[in-house]
Amino acid sequence: MNWDDFELNLNWDKLQLLGEGISRITYLLPSKRYVVKIPNAYLGVTHNQREARRYKELPDKPLARCRLVGPKNTLLVMEYVKPKHFRFIDESKPAWVGCIDRDQVGYNLSGKLVAYDFGQNKLSFAKRPFTRDPDPWR
Ligand SMILES: Nc1ncnc2c1ncn2[C@@H]1O[C@H](COP(=O)(O)OP(=O)(O)OP(=O)(O)O)[C@@H](O)[C@H]1O
Ligand SMILES: [Mg+2]
Repeated sequence: MNWDDFELNLNWDKLQLLGEGISRITYLLPSKRYVVKIPNAYLGVTHNQREARRYKELPDKPLARCRLVGPKNTLLVMEYVKPKHFRFIDESKPAWVGCIDRDQVGYNLSGKLVAYDFGQNKLSFAKRPFTRDPDPWR
């Protein structure tokens, strides 16, 4: 493991708090290109590990690039994503956004719309009220 890749000799003074969710606290790394997600409960470890696994297993899907790092692979480094808030009904919203818990999507530094929180138990394909799209990832 190369910690230096991600400036992960975690220099806490230099991390910027971006947000806190139910299971993880997210900090921006000094490069401003990556974030680190620190579990605040064991559930956060599960979410980190599921996110990393999904990213690997679904390489063609719009998921933020990420990988596990740190002690026992419990931390997650993820590319920085600028959150995008879609209205509930929005013609420009891709159908797959509705599959992501609370539409937690945004633009990565290449300008691509990707999900940044996809570690929950199930991706919620069932919660797509306004689409019968057979391919929800479109
Ligand atoms: N890749 C990212 N780039 C920028 N900000 C992010 C990124 N990932 C997460 N964040 C910010 O950090 C917050 C917490 O991260 P995240 O949503 O992954 O934690 P969580 O515990 O899974 O949250 P939830 O309560 O939604 O399940 C997000 O709401 C968002 O504001
Ligand atoms: Mg979240």
